[in-house]
Amino acid sequence: SSAASDVYKRQYTDCLTTDIMEKNMTGKICGTGSWAPDRVWDNNDLAKMVETSDEWIRERTGVVQRHIAKEEEDTVTMAAQAALRAVEDAGMDVEEIDLILVATISPTEIMPCVACGVQERIGAENATCFDLNGACTGSLLALNTAQAYLAQGIYRNALVIGAEKLSGLTDWTDRGTCILFGDGAGAVVLRAEEGGRYAQVTHSIGKKGGALTLQSRNQICYENDPKAKETYIQMNGKEVFTFAVSKVPEAIKTLLYREKISYGDIRYYLLHQANERIIRSAARRLGEDISKFPMNMDRYGNTSSASLLILLDEVKKSGKLQKGDKLVLAGFGGGLTYGASLIEY
Ligand code: UT7
Repeated sequence: SSAASDVYKRQYTDCLTTDIMEKNMTGKICGTGSWAPDRVWDNNDLAKMVETSDEWIRERTGVVQRHIAKEEEDTVTMAAQAALRAVEDAGMDVEEIDLILVATISPTEIMPCVACGVQERIGAENATCFDLNGACTGSLLALNTAQAYLAQGIYRNALVIGAEKLSGLTDWTDRGTCILFGDGAGAVVLRAEEGGRYAQVTHSIGKKGGALTLQSRNQICYENDPKAKETYIQMNGKEVFTFAVSKVPEAIKTLLYREKISYGDIRYYLLHQANERIIRSAARRLGEDISKFPMNMDRYGNTSSASLLILLDEVKKSGKLQKGDKLVLAGFGGGLTYGASLIEY
């Protein structure tokens, strides 16, 4: 189609005729969206399933309820709903999207990837599509990846999505994990523009990967294989907690030091919504007021790859962001992986 050849020309003539690196292109946030299933389970619902209480869960995690997808709601359908909202918010035509990147650990199918499923559902025919597995750091790593493509002039408009149906990967008899997780999707449209600012710090500690695991179902060889239990999320909560409270503030400090930005210049810190105590601890360690750390885990629980982008959508839609505001986004989780990014709104 002529639209497709326009995109082709747009991408490649830009690369060939201008020195894109000299231009300092960054992906600007131009639209956000999120979506979560209607069905909600509160802490009292969980107390009927495992030995726990609303009080314990609130105090130890900050979670009050979580959204739980029904059978017909999967990672692709949730991602597509969030994506449509983000594209609409950006005032863009779906055909303008050059890249769809989905961060997830709960793909509906291994193949085709979730991003291709989203492409089909929303009709973004000109997009290149792939998924990325970065566990709870996934949407941060996806944002970093999209920004690198945009900075190089390879794509102009990127749709980054974090989507998870964790309810299907949760052991609903394990009170150490099932109280934490929820389902949902968040999305952001980034448009390459001259100027602006994007910087990142990321780390992985593969040797600590055993602290948070999820075995693939293709490892199960026979009926009643004891490994079947491991196809649910398993976690050493204390170890992950200790890792998060030390490494997340460290990554943010390094990022701001490198970028020569003082804490006071940051409008909001958006942290992965795993546990309210982790976020309060990070705020204390940075010496920043907790009001600069918006939270929504009370309503969503921990949605892994989706959490940062659902939160970004809420902050954008709150109307409290102004052009030029500096945001820090920080993620941590399975891998173990962690990192922080700076973006100018
Ligand atoms: O997104 C990926 C990253 N994941 C995370 O960031 C999770 C990080 N970890 C955590 O958020 C916390 O470690 C948890 C919320 C998972 C657990 O909190 P904790 O303060 O570390 O509790 P704990 O595991 O040390 O357990 C304390 C007590 C234990 O009882 P005893 O041994 O002291 O008698 C547990 O058996 O609380 C008990 N317990 C519970 N009690 C009621 C553990 N889970 C529950 C529960 N309800 N759901």
